[in-house]
Amino acid sequence: MVLILLLMTSLFRPVRLQASEEGCLSGLCNPQIGDLMMGRAAQLSASSTCGLDGPQNYCIIGYLEEEKKCFSCDSTRPFDAQSNPNSHRIENVITTFEPERKMKWWQSENGVHEVSIRLDLETIFQFSHLVLTFKSFRPAAMLVERSQDSGRSWKVFRYFSEDCSLHFPQVPKQIADSIDDVVCDSRYSGSEPSTEGEVVLKALDPIFQIENPYAPHIQELITMTNLRINFTRLFTLGDTLLGRKRRNPQNKYYYALYDMVVRGSCFCNGHAALCTPANGRGDVFTTPGMVHGQCVCQHNTAGFNCERCKDMHYDSPWRPGGEDNPNICRRCNCYGHADSCHFDAARFDETRGVSGGVCDNCRNNREGAQCERCGAFTFQDPQRAIEDPSACIPCECSPLGSESGGLCDVQTGQCLCKENVEGQRCDRCKPGHFGLRPEDPLGCQQ
Ligand SMILES: *[C@@H]1O[C@H](CO)[C@@H](O)[C@H](O)[C@H]1NC(C)=O
Repeated sequence: MVLILLLMTSLFRPVRLQASEEGCLSGLCNPQIGDLMMGRAAQLSASSTCGLDGPQNYCIIGYLEEEKKCFSCDSTRPFDAQSNPNSHRIENVITTFEPERKMKWWQSENGVHEVSIRLDLETIFQFSHLVLTFKSFRPAAMLVERSQDSGRSWKVFRYFSEDCSLHFPQVPKQIADSIDDVVCDSRYSGSEPSTEGEVVLKALDPIFQIENPYAPHIQELITMTNLRINFTRLFTLGDTLLGRKRRNPQNKYYYALYDMVVRGSCFCNGHAALCTPANGRGDVFTTPGMVHGQCVCQHNTAGFNCERCKDMHYDSPWRPGGEDNPNICRRCNCYGHADSCHFDAARFDETRGVSGGVCDNCRNNREGAQCERCGAFTFQDPQRAIEDPSACIPCECSPLGSESGGLCDVQTGQCLCKENVEGQRCDRCKPGHFGLRPEDPLGCQQ
């Protein structure tokens, strides 16, 4: 039921390009949610699959010996409804809208308790929820974990077991007190139903109110580059209940999944409403409805995930977007005299948040955070605008008698004479002085 609803919402919500862009301008900048599994068969793996190296038998549980039905698994080649219907590779769990949906599933090898399924995404994505639909009984115990660093480290999202204290004694809680509590959920592991049972994991428990979904502590909880599902304990209750001796009891215990849906969206820090293929990875051309990973950044941001300001836009610090404030990156003002700038937190504080941008390598003899001043030995031509590349003209001062060998006032061009020197160009000794020399800090002697 849940799955069907999800499928319907994804089918009937086509990407409306223009509307998304406009949505971004009005502050709400949320990329479309879709099934991250779509188009990612090559990025999906399972630690155990029945019949990968050749045909393997398995049976379906029956309460009487005569009811036992056995079948063969052959996953040496991919599934094909006509020529290879017994292939049960992991890519079968990706939702398709083909009529043979119920013929197609993934299955693990018989009797292996610890099996993991892993989805490796090409970049960081935002996770919304996971729905697993089993063909077999649901696992007696399992957990879902995710990585945010391409698989180097992992954190558990949630544990699942009907008997949490038996299977996960180290996990104290079954109900979360705060949004980041890791709990063991006992709702999705019962023996009923024996087929088409679901396991559902929502990234954020709806009982918690979230003010800004782009706040760092929320993002920390819902972003991932990899998702891993560890099945840790097969459901084997049937045997203990019946207490019968069977010829080959192992061959009816395995995990089998019809569907795995990972709902999520690209992760753009609140600065994009649309995403495109990341480095051309994934099955881009054949899969409509695929959720791509590279954000089309708005608000003067850049990067895969709009995680920084774009070049020349460092006058304000980068911040994630929010619904009440889009936190647009402001352009640096360099009056056209620099091609790059950087953010300087100290300057931002000193100016009380007015300007934090510092222009790099000002041209045209200019200096200052915004290239707003003429550099040493030049001054601003009063006839020219500050943007004019030739607005800084050289001082016309004597190297012998002016400060530092030729300084003038950057505004007026007035030469700055040494103490005992005078004249428009500082080229003569004051009355009662003699011997103008460049080495003399006073210029002339008394
Ligand atoms: C999940 O399984 C993998 C091996 O497939 C293992 O390395 C990892 O530690 C398991 N995770 C947990 C939380 O037990």
